[in-house]
Amino acid sequence: MINTSALQDTQVVAPEQEATAEQCLCKVLSTYKGNESELIPILQEVQKEFGYVPAFAINKIAKFLRLPEATVFGVTTFYAQFKLVPTGRNIVKVCRGTACYVRGGTRILQEVESQLGIKPGETTPDFEYSVETVACIGACALSPAMVINDHVHGRLTPQKVKAILDTGRSNGPKNE
Ligand code: FES
Repeated sequence: MINTSALQDTQVVAPEQEATAEQCLCKVLSTYKGNESELIPILQEVQKEFGYVPAFAINKIAKFLRLPEATVFGVTTFYAQFKLVPTGRNIVKVCRGTACYVRGGTRILQEVESQLGIKPGETTPDFEYSVETVACIGACALSPAMVINDHVHGRLTPQKVKAILDTGRSNGPKNE
């Protein structure tokens, strides 16, 4: 038995929502055969479906693949792509690499924190945004830079950050 206290979902889920989530998971699992090698694709699909890998899913996936729960948990925590808690619909990744740092990256992060009211690793209460920091996003020529979902924003200033997030809040940056 693994210690799943770190997996407690931050949202209180009503019984009917829980039943829907279980149905949703069963639907995902029904497209697989139950082979060990399907673990990563299943985790990817579960994350796509829920936005993260819920604690109850780890238990069900382990049973489905006849693997120890600790193995499924271990794989989920090993890969950075998998989240164990709900994240925002929009992921803001602020670069803290050297090129961005020397060109004012710290001020960019401060502006993001100030605009959204959260720190790296946190999610806004409405689950609209999560903030992360990354070492380098491969856009050093555009530093300081950040990525919102898959869209790179470069040559940032605090004013540009505010404008981008303001636009995102009114239009939804996810589909920009
Ligand atoms: S250091 Fe920021 S994009 Fe490379």
